[in-house]
Amino acid sequence: MPMDILLGLQWGDEGKGKVVDVLAPTYNVVARFQGGPNAGHTLVHDGVKHVLHQVPSGIFHAQILNVIGNGVVLDPVVFCKEIDGLLARGLQPVHNLVLSRKAQLIVPTHRLLDAASEAQKGDAKIGSTLRGIGPAYQDKYARAGLRVGDVLRADFADRYAQLKKAHLVVLDHLSHDLEALPELEANWFAAVERLRAFRIEDTEYLLNDALAQGQKVLAEGAQGSLLDIDFGSYPYVTSSSTMAAGACTGLGVAPRHVAEVFGIFKAYCTRVGAGPFPTELHDATGEQIRRQGHEFGSTTGRPRRTGWLDLPALKYACMLSGVTQLMMMKADVLAGMEPIEVCTAYRLDGRTTTYYPAGPEAAEVTPIYTQRPGWPTSATPGHFEQLPNGLRQYVSYLEAETGLPITLISNGPDRVDTVLRF
Ligand code: GDP
Ligand code: IMO
Ligand code: MG
Repeated sequence: MPMDILLGLQWGDEGKGKVVDVLAPTYNVVARFQGGPNAGHTLVHDGVKHVLHQVPSGIFHAQILNVIGNGVVLDPVVFCKEIDGLLARGLQPVHNLVLSRKAQLIVPTHRLLDAASEAQKGDAKIGSTLRGIGPAYQDKYARAGLRVGDVLRADFADRYAQLKKAHLVVLDHLSHDLEALPELEANWFAAVERLRAFRIEDTEYLLNDALAQGQKVLAEGAQGSLLDIDFGSYPYVTSSSTMAAGACTGLGVAPRHVAEVFGIFKAYCTRVGAGPFPTELHDATGEQIRRQGHEFGSTTGRPRRTGWLDLPALKYACMLSGVTQLMMMKADVLAGMEPIEVCTAYRLDGRTTTYYPAGPEAAEVTPIYTQRPGWPTSATPGHFEQLPNGLRQYVSYLEAETGLPITLISNGPDRVDTVLRF
């Protein structure tokens, strides 16, 4: 069977966790392929909220194997805390969870380096989640990092000491406070000890064997296309490849095995952290969206910036990942707003363009909007045809603009607030 990929098309927090949870029962394996504890994926069952940072969103289904792939950066402390939360809810996440031997480890000094680097940047801060993501990927590409499989080696402590020594040189140079380090290290080593009890494998074999045996694999993206290291609003991005291509390198599955690419987007836009956001609203409408959408970060609790849907950016993200189906989230949040605006192009340097400017020029564009009729209610019916007129028109309009089918409409945080069209 082929592998399907699910990814965010905006600046993260599109609702990926919810969709993975909804689709998971039709898959045998759910695999995270990039990012780390900067992710916060929310699942809501029967009014109870669960936020996952490191563990794939298929974990609530005992029959599904959940894989943390080689492209991920893993913080053992965050991971163990999450496992404890799942155990407390009566789940047994040890049996249906496998970690790639090749995933990179986030060490305590990576967190300190993240903080030191942000402090150094002053006003040009990225707005990082400060989870050590950037420094961990830096070490990966500098060929200096520690990997999950290393925790099983006899020389692990020595290799850790060597990496820490290199980090301390930089932290000393930046005069960064090291007071927190002993406690961070004690917690980290305790978590590493626990990590050894988990299945640590060459998950590229596991995934390819599963596909060869006819099993269905869903690759779960973190962050979003506009935070991609190459194509996002650089340098205000994360440090990994958040596109469909990243799923292949992040799991060791060849492109020819990929079938569907599910592109998840909100009916509007949000961004947490710094960086250009062409359609950002600084007015009462933006505040209304934040309030109605509960737009506060799942990982850091920061208020999310809000704005109208940005079509050039959405089309750009669809192009980069070869999206085959769109899934629109948070339709309920726009209920009662009239009219709804959509950015169709930008003005830049006296010209009109539909190219997404993924560099500093993104801060200089003026969006051109079209107005769409709204809809009055946020009730979720069983069928698409029963949705209010304005919402169905919004969906048809976006399908015509993108040339892609919108196969899922999410109308509330719970699993049940979902209208499927397949
Ligand atoms: P992810 O990082 O892409 O998994 O998304 P997050 O979990 O960080 O943020 C999405 C937020 O929106 C979470 O609080 C979800 O519970 C919530 N959510 C998801 N879908 C919907 C929806 O259709 N309507 C509303 N109102 N909330 C939703
Ligand atoms: P999920 O998977 C939203 C943002 C941060 C910051 C930038 C870099 O929940 O969609 P980093 O910690 O990666 O160095 O931060 O990226 N960011 C996210 N924004 N959702 C996320 O993940 C994010 N992960 C990182 O706010 O602007
Ligand atoms: Mg999130």
